Amino acid sequence: MDRDKILLTPGPLTTTLRTKLTMLKDWGSWDSDFNAVTARIRHNLLDIIHGHDSHVVVPLQGSGTFSVEASVATLVPHDGHVLVLDNGAYCKRAARLTSLMGRRCSVLAFDEATQVSPAALADKLKQDPSISHVVLIHCETGAGVLNPLQEIADVCKAQGKGLIVDAMSSFGALAIDARAIQFDALVAASGKCLEGVPGMGFVFIRKAVLDGCAGRSQSLAMDLHDQYVYMEKTTQWRFTPPTHVVVALAEAIAQFEEEGGQPARLARYRSNYSTLIEGMAQLGFKPFLDPTIQAPIIVTFHAPADSRYEFKKFYAAARERGFVLYPGKLTQVETFRVGCIGAIGPNEMAQAVLAVALTLQDMGITSAAPTH
Ligand SMILES: Cc1ncc(COP(=O)(O)O)c(C=O)c1O
Repeated sequence: MDRDKILLTPGPLTTTLRTKLTMLKDWGSWDSDFNAVTARIRHNLLDIIHGHDSHVVVPLQGSGTFSVEASVATLVPHDGHVLVLDNGAYCKRAARLTSLMGRRCSVLAFDEATQVSPAALADKLKQDPSISHVVLIHCETGAGVLNPLQEIADVCKAQGKGLIVDAMSSFGALAIDARAIQFDALVAASGKCLEGVPGMGFVFIRKAVLDGCAGRSQSLAMDLHDQYVYMEKTTQWRFTPPTHVVVALAEAIAQFEEEGGQPARLARYRSNYSTLIEGMAQLGFKPFLDPTIQAPIIVTFHAPADSRYEFKKFYAAARERGFVLYPGKLTQVETFRVGCIGAIGPNEMAQAVLAVALTLQDMGITSAAPTH
């Protein structure tokens, strides 16, 4: 059937028809109408974190990783030392890109089924005064863990360290208030909880550190300070903007505001999450994480123990029924993931659970219980 499948993935995700329809128009990058859209987005993004007094926001072309890389390149001096708090795959990616950019990088490792620890961070910073910046992944989308942003930010502030937050999969859904949480940079993207389409990221940079970032990036395309200065001066993007992505994001933000902003978005995702968890539990599925550290963004489930289970077949059969699942990203145990985000509600999630139930039936699996 020629109908969009529902994406139960952490981005790209299901978007509304309204958002999709805005992409049917062509926009010139020099045109004042388009530049007004960029300005409106930047204003609205700062509203979401209550950041007008403390931060600027700099959009950047590309997927989310481009903006994480740009943040490290722009904020960390060449002789800086970055500590990555690592409890999963996106943390490892952040550490890798930091090293590739020639910045000294250390990793404080945690189990992927736990949160990173503010106390362990405090100890590490005391032991090694050369650390200048800390990188935290707010929601580690690899397993779905919600990390303690406020507490980590408080430790960094108390010890005078810069904090770079990857809030890619949490921004817009989980509360982030720049008046209460001090960070030097916070990164997110268009195609996540704001429910736009993928293609641009944006970075909130603390005004107090902005001037010091001039000329620091060794990459022209990744230089957020340069992008900021050019955008302020001309109202335009430095290089070709992803015009359709930008107008779709403006439309998605308008719907975000109509829905009731971050609290309403979180309430819908929580409702998706509980519908999913309860329905899957009835089929025998077991979530990988303890619910107390689980973000209502993406859920990792253990693979069923039944020998007839095979992810590829399971995925294909659920897809046939209109739902796109996501493979697991853990190295030690076999899992798969289901996203709770996107322009869907609990009705769609209940249908997704039904599709999974029918898929198991087709595969001859009577219980989805894992081995442990
Ligand atoms: C925590 C986190 N960081 C970074 C990214 C960026 O990934 P990409 O470059 O594929 O957009 C993602 C995407 O899902 C993410 O969840």
